[in-house]
Amino acid sequence: MKLCMIGTGYVGLVSGVCFSDLGNDVICVDKDLKKIKNLKKGIIPIYEPGLEELVIKNYKNNRLKFTSNLKESVSKSDIIFICVGTPTKKSSSAADLSQVYNVAEEIKNSISKFKIIITKSTVPVTTGDEIEKIISKKISKQLFSVVSNPEFLREGEAIRDFNFPDRIVIGTDNNKSNKVLKNLYSPLISKGAKYINTSRRAAELIKYASNAFLATKITFINELSNLCEKIDVNIEDISIGMGLDKRIGSRFLRAGPAYGGSCFPKDTKAIVSTSGKFKTNLSVIKSVIKSNNNRSLLLLTRVFDILNNKVKNKKICFLGVTFKANTDDMRDSSSLSMIPSLVKKGAKVNYFDPTGEKNVFKNLKNVNFSNDIKSAITNADLIIVHTEWNDFKSINFKKDVKNKNYKIFDMRNIYSSKKMKKQKIKYFAIGS
Ligand SMILES: NC(=O)c1ccc[n+]([C@@H]2O[C@H](COP(=O)([O-])OP(=O)(O)OC[C@H]3O[C@@H](n4cnc5c(N)ncnc54)[C@H](O)[C@@H]3O)[C@@H](O)[C@H]2O)c1
Repeated sequence: MKLCMIGTGYVGLVSGVCFSDLGNDVICVDKDLKKIKNLKKGIIPIYEPGLEELVIKNYKNNRLKFTSNLKESVSKSDIIFICVGTPTKKSSSAADLSQVYNVAEEIKNSISKFKIIITKSTVPVTTGDEIEKIISKKISKQLFSVVSNPEFLREGEAIRDFNFPDRIVIGTDNNKSNKVLKNLYSPLISKGAKYINTSRRAAELIKYASNAFLATKITFINELSNLCEKIDVNIEDISIGMGLDKRIGSRFLRAGPAYGGSCFPKDTKAIVSTSGKFKTNLSVIKSVIKSNNNRSLLLLTRVFDILNNKVKNKKICFLGVTFKANTDDMRDSSSLSMIPSLVKKGAKVNYFDPTGEKNVFKNLKNVNFSNDIKSAITNADLIIVHTEWNDFKSINFKKDVKNKNYKIFDMRNIYSSKKMKKQKIKYFAIGS
């Protein structure tokens, strides 16, 4: 099939490449000329395991093309995926849909035969209705169909998630579009993915409801970990004990820092904003947002406690600064507020991240990037494990840290407290 992905970011690039790997002809469009130029040279704009190989393979096979020419790409394609950003508005907590509507305006000038236009971007309920309105100002409704096909991939596992999704949600009441899309996804359906066809509005809401629920699970266990810290109970026991109940499940039930990333923070805010628009109250999600906003402050207070409130001139090492492992995405990572707060209090921060130095910290005084784990931790007074990279799981602290009085604050509970105790390391974890 002939596909076009508008927006070659995380979602557009990963799904575009994966669709081409399934044998489709895919054009990835982006208005960012540098990104397109780099992609043509095999330079990948994001860190995502396995992505580079797949891009190079399909680009060489001529099934995958990169361009900035939206008009030509739309006219050459049968299925158009809108994959542009939907960040939080500056003026409110609603989703900023300007990128999506701009694309709709552009598409309407390039339709001369039937096109399926799909929102893969996460968009609030009724956005599909708006897109339809925009396009139908110029094009007959017989010539296009607007479908919602939300994307559920996780950064760091994106290729696997594309190829083995739990479900494929197609929101349309247009039988022709449904048939074409079922066919497009048939290689994944035959590997076990569930295909569900809903109304367009339901598909739009399924995405927000799913993200809000996962954010709630994380926040729930984070709050319980606060209680565990007061009553000498280990939160890991609670997570295991609860997670084994099939009605609950163990995923997203690990206590740690505030949830971050490009989706949960903005999507929880957007769904609350949508509920306000329709005069309903999603009070649970409102509480989740509030609790998560407090989480970084709470963990900072714990850092101060661990350092006996003597933060000035303390050497603090962050292991990992991205919002989670296996990605270079810094969007809404809790390190973005923690590191500046610590240096404000006089700490000297050294950090190591497997995905390299981060621009946001480059101009911060007393924040330095170390090229490897050893040099990051060697003189530290406090080592904070912020992100759960495998690289951090087998560090020999006894050998590599030269400062005798160092402490470890493991915000991801990746080490065994018992082993740490045996080695006489001053070790602090979450929820114990
Ligand atoms: N990142 C994720 O893990 C993830 C997962 C599921 C869903 N989503 C959703 O998918 C959408 C995209 O997210 P992302 O992380 O891929 O965003 P991104 O910011 O990484 O990429 C968006 C891209 O769209 C391009 N763009 C914007 N306007 C354009 C236009 N008019 N023409 C061509 N290109 C244009 C931008 O230059 C950018 O490269 C969002 O709605 C997001 O919520 C993201």
